[in-house]
Amino acid sequence: MRVLIVGEGGREHALAWKVRQSSHLEELFIAPGNAGTALLGTNLDVPSADTKAITAKAQEIKADLVIVGPETPLAAGLADRLQSAGIATLGPSAAAARIESSKVFSKELMLGSGIPTAAAESFDNADAAIAYLERQTFPVVVKADGLAAGKGVTIANSKQEAIDAVLASLEQRAFGEAGARVLVEECLIGPEVSVFAFVDGEYVSPLTAACDYKRVFDGDKGPNTGGMGSFTPPVFWNDALASEIRQVVMEPTVRAMVKAGCPFRGVLYAGLMLTANGPKVLEFNCRLGDPETQVIVPNLESDFLEVAQAVATGRLSQQEVRWGRGAGVGVVVASGGYPGSYKTGLPISGIEAAAAAGALVFQAGTQTSAEGQGKPKTSGGRVLTVVGRGKSLSEARKLAYKAINHIKFEGAFHRTDVAANLD
Ligand code: AMP
Ligand code: GLY
Repeated sequence: MRVLIVGEGGREHALAWKVRQSSHLEELFIAPGNAGTALLGTNLDVPSADTKAITAKAQEIKADLVIVGPETPLAAGLADRLQSAGIATLGPSAAAARIESSKVFSKELMLGSGIPTAAAESFDNADAAIAYLERQTFPVVVKADGLAAGKGVTIANSKQEAIDAVLASLEQRAFGEAGARVLVEECLIGPEVSVFAFVDGEYVSPLTAACDYKRVFDGDKGPNTGGMGSFTPPVFWNDALASEIRQVVMEPTVRAMVKAGCPFRGVLYAGLMLTANGPKVLEFNCRLGDPETQVIVPNLESDFLEVAQAVATGRLSQQEVRWGRGAGVGVVVASGGYPGSYKTGLPISGIEAAAAAGALVFQAGTQTSAEGQGKPKTSGGRVLTVVGRGKSLSEARKLAYKAINHIKFEGAFHRTDVAANLD
């Protein structure tokens, strides 16, 4: 198979690494990729959000399968375009991607089908939202409807904070059109977990789960980021919980998508909170998570291309999807200043040494240096993820942190508490 992976992060490097292990692979391309994916296939200089250019490239390279990493091209209809061009795709149509790209759509879907989630109301008018807030107890959660790069959610501890968040979104358009509607929802309490399944429109594969770390500093301090670390399995994950989540969340959601006229084909990612009243959905995503992919994909024992092809062709129920029992801990190394402004173009050393120590190193914000050879340079905020694997979380964690000491570039930092303090 000739395969194109769309995206440029650690998630896409991990996917490229996994796809490389398939005996079905003939040639691998990544658009646009990074310095890590360049070692595994051919990087194509096309931005992942440009659905027209990506489709043209996929045709030019005669791709048999396209694996789409990020949500933006999916929400913009990349899978629809590829399908019209007759190219099999791992990733949902734009209509099905609304499960992530519109929090109002996904909330209505859940409330309409009895899928457990926080109670919520949606508003496009600030006066109506504020009148509603007058009758609430706090905290509440205010969410912009559309894609806001993880910045559209405010946990408001007081009425004033909630009003400010509503005004920022609806009146000041802090998130552009993505914030033209907001949800005001009940604040849930409990441990969070990201749950993933392959879905072919009807059939839901066995589930896997991971936890991620969104805040930039140890102890969950500082601003939110794209994700600073992840681990699998969550300590509380077991067959009974997986089976409950399958029955009350994943399967009803997939049926509701069929009923809504937009069957979901791709990776369904449920962000859940395990509350005192059972698991409840915080959000759905229409893709794999980053940095969760870096720890879950190495745990997939089945052939990734066979699974992706089965999803794309609606034959997933006949395909084995087997998740291993091993543990994985991924720690992101970021540029000094991230998630604010940071320097780029800094040479990175120690990637081979970290790999020699037994870790997997998945690159993200990196570029091959102009000379082509030699050390990669930083080009983004999250530069790479170092993943340790082992029989237990503590073994995996030790390995990740031993290996990460080799990674050096000016201003590099990472959280030191990923998969720590879990009891
Ligand atoms: P989301 O983008 O919807 O996943 O929200 C981002 C983060 O905000 C989640 O990972 C949670 O930590 C938090 N969050 C979202 N919704 C709620 C809620 N209803 N109650 C408590 N925390 C929430
Ligand atoms: N790790 C969170 C996300 O991918 O959205």
